[in-house]
Amino acid sequence: RLTAKEQLDPFALIKDEVSEVTDRLRSMVVAEVPELTSAAGYFFRAGAEGKRTCPTVLLLMASAVSMEMTDGLENKPRARHMHVAEITEMIHISSLIHDDVLDDADTRCGMDSLNFTVGKKLAVLAGDFLLFRAFSAAVSLDNTEVVSLLATAVNNLVTGELMQMSITPAQCCSMDYYLQKTYYKTAALISNSCKAIAVLTGQTTEVQALAYQYGRHLGIAYQLIDDILDFTGTSASLGKASLSDIHQGIVIAPILFAMEEFPELREIVEQGFDDSSNVEMALKYLSKSQGIERTRLLAAEHAKLAAGAIDGLPESQDQVILNSRQALKDLTQKRFGTRA
Ligand code: FPP
Ligand code: MG
Ligand code: MG
Repeated sequence: RLTAKEQLDPFALIKDEVSEVTDRLRSMVVAEVPELTSAAGYFFRAGAEGKRTCPTVLLLMASAVSMEMTDGLENKPRARHMHVAEITEMIHISSLIHDDVLDDADTRCGMDSLNFTVGKKLAVLAGDFLLFRAFSAAVSLDNTEVVSLLATAVNNLVTGELMQMSITPAQCCSMDYYLQKTYYKTAALISNSCKAIAVLTGQTTEVQALAYQYGRHLGIAYQLIDDILDFTGTSASLGKASLSDIHQGIVIAPILFAMEEFPELREIVEQGFDDSSNVEMALKYLSKSQGIERTRLLAAEHAKLAAGAIDGLPESQDQVILNSRQALKDLTQKRFGTRA
């Protein structure tokens, strides 16, 4: 039995199902070669599971858009929704593993990164293997639209990563470019997966679009908060070094807003941050500006749009459906920590 408070706690609401997803993920990543099994399972082993935000959102979405709730986890649509949660988590982890190779990162979520632990080569292959596992599970759902949504998400992840890698000084200063890249890198997977959930439920195109919009705005809000934390968080709370974006030369929303107030910052940004005096100057401008506050406001706007998408869903009297919707709305208000 859940207490009244737990009933609305998004994580408590579906805690058991999320751990079921976590268990199944472990068995899904078994490969022919033991080294590959342990590398691919690195972020799925006990104690290393992370917050499982994607499965949480997707399982809540599944309840939120269901037409009538049937009890019990045995029911078939629920099992299919849980598969989408597993697939999405595998794609997510695969993208982080590859990202850490590209970034030469030593840590991920407060742990050693996979490339640090087993080397680049095995890490790349483990990421590839997870992606293959995700898609073979997706094919088993026997729904081409769902497979195509997931393929779009992976394409967007790759495009976003490339947009960041190949950015020109002019694109560095563009908020539009930043938001497009952010959507691809951080929001496209959850938005397309939310839509896949609605598709599998047999929902109308209107409901599919609302599910998609929820994921899109939630993902963007999430990233904007992450951007703020990169400046305000401590490395202990982040599980990675703070100020990591600017040190990697990545221009994020607070700096872009600061640049609007102090156009002289533009020249510094265009020069890049290889020179540490440029980092210092940018931070000085940032602290004089409303950059952090305006980023917070933009995140709040996206959070509100995400909540609005939930409010747009067709009326329901079912308490489980209504609780799940409330939990999804509460998630938009939560201040997330770090990724994964
Ligand atoms: C984290 O970015 C990276 C991502 C959210 C996506 C990375 C995508 C790829 C590597 C493309 C390949 C995709 C697949 C599915 C294999 P970050 O480096 O800005 O942030 P972080 O390292 O601090 O989390
Ligand atoms: Mg990275
Ligand atoms: Mg990266």
